[in-house]
Amino acid sequence: MRCEILLALMFAASGNALVRFHCSQLVIERLDPLVTPGMAPSPHVHQIVGGNSFNTTMEAEKDMAGESTCTSCQFADDFSNYWTAVLYFRAQNGTYKRVPQLGNNQFQTANGGITLYYMQDAIYDPAQKSKVTAFQPGFRMFIGDVQARTLAEAARYRQLTYTCLDTFTLRSPELIAFPNRKCKEGIMTSLRFPTCWDGKNLDSPNHMSHMSYPESGTFESSGPCPATHPVRTGQLMYEVVWDTKPFNDLPWPEDGSNPFVWSFGDGTGYANHADYVFGWKGDALQKILDAQGCHFMTNCSKETGLKLQSVSEMNKCTQERKVDEDIDSWLTALPGGWQAQYARRASWR
Ligand SMILES: *[C@@H]1O[C@H](CO)[C@@H](O)[C@H](O)[C@H]1NC(C)=O
Ligand SMILES: *[C@@H]1O[C@H](CO)[C@@H](O)[C@H](O)[C@H]1NC(C)=O
Ligand SMILES: *[C@@H]1O[C@H](CO)[C@@H](O)[C@H](O)[C@H]1NC(C)=O
Repeated sequence: MRCEILLALMFAASGNALVRFHCSQLVIERLDPLVTPGMAPSPHVHQIVGGNSFNTTMEAEKDMAGESTCTSCQFADDFSNYWTAVLYFRAQNGTYKRVPQLGNNQFQTANGGITLYYMQDAIYDPAQKSKVTAFQPGFRMFIGDVQARTLAEAARYRQLTYTCLDTFTLRSPELIAFPNRKCKEGIMTSLRFPTCWDGKNLDSPNHMSHMSYPESGTFESSGPCPATHPVRTGQLMYEVVWDTKPFNDLPWPEDGSNPFVWSFGDGTGYANHADYVFGWKGDALQKILDAQGCHFMTNCSKETGLKLQSVSEMNKCTQERKVDEDIDSWLTALPGGWQAQYARRASWR
């Protein structure tokens, strides 16, 4: 009996968190304070969720929780910003139309946005026993390559994928390129970040090299972190649901190729990428990762004392666009002047 209690306490210390929560759309515009700070407009359109202190420039020293007055995320203490590029549909006449987003499964009433996961172990592992370190204030990272146009280039980044949603809740197979057929309920992109941190740098010049994938195996197989990046962090994953349904009835390219392109022109899908700027208040994220009751959120609020917002509260936190331009009508070029590309442009260095 006593032994069981002790064991229970030991497991309590390692936590049992796999949180899945949603953040509604904050704004869709051409800004990227991580890759091109100070540039308004930035090269291509992004869709952003999280705290409303999101801005053209965001210094790492900035207290995002202190400067935001609301967040579009379900956790009221999460003022982080999460963003990706947006999809456009390319019509047969060569014009482009932005593909709207949908609230994900269980968040259908959300205004677009991103579903976030922070995991200790593989998503299918119910135990979630590993001890993981939360990201620190000022931490940011990027994953993917906007210039990738081949499978080999995309394969350097594990697990940036597409799922052709034949049903709304389908989650496999995951593809590395755009699906090349009509997807009945839309297309889901899933973006998983690396999980080994160098333990020192909150950022790096390419916004990636302070993080690493496990040295062998994968996060899912509990592969060890390399000596250069010894700190195992939680796995951050984004899910974005693109509402491609309205475009299934329009004429598609006669050669059977996919008509969806990223906002910077990639028509292959190999340049899927994502940005993260940490902005949790205090130690809220570590509290969640150490909790027992945060497994799929069931008792998370009760155990951690962290407040959860309703979807309607989340939907209320939006931001005016700072870059005033047409991103939504049928456009002759993608905002920023991009055209669809299916191979690398000669001008990419
Ligand atoms: C964005 O930055 C500008 C310039 O520093 C500032 O005036 C503005 O208040 C900021 N907006 C938000 C939402 O923080
Ligand atoms: C181009 O095609 C789209 C989709 O069929 C249509 O809505 C749009 O009006 C067309 N634009 C022009 C200039 O023909
Ligand atoms: C949540 O808390 C209730 C009441 O304390 C408990 O009965 C239940 O097992 C908990 N659920 C989980 C998944 O921990």
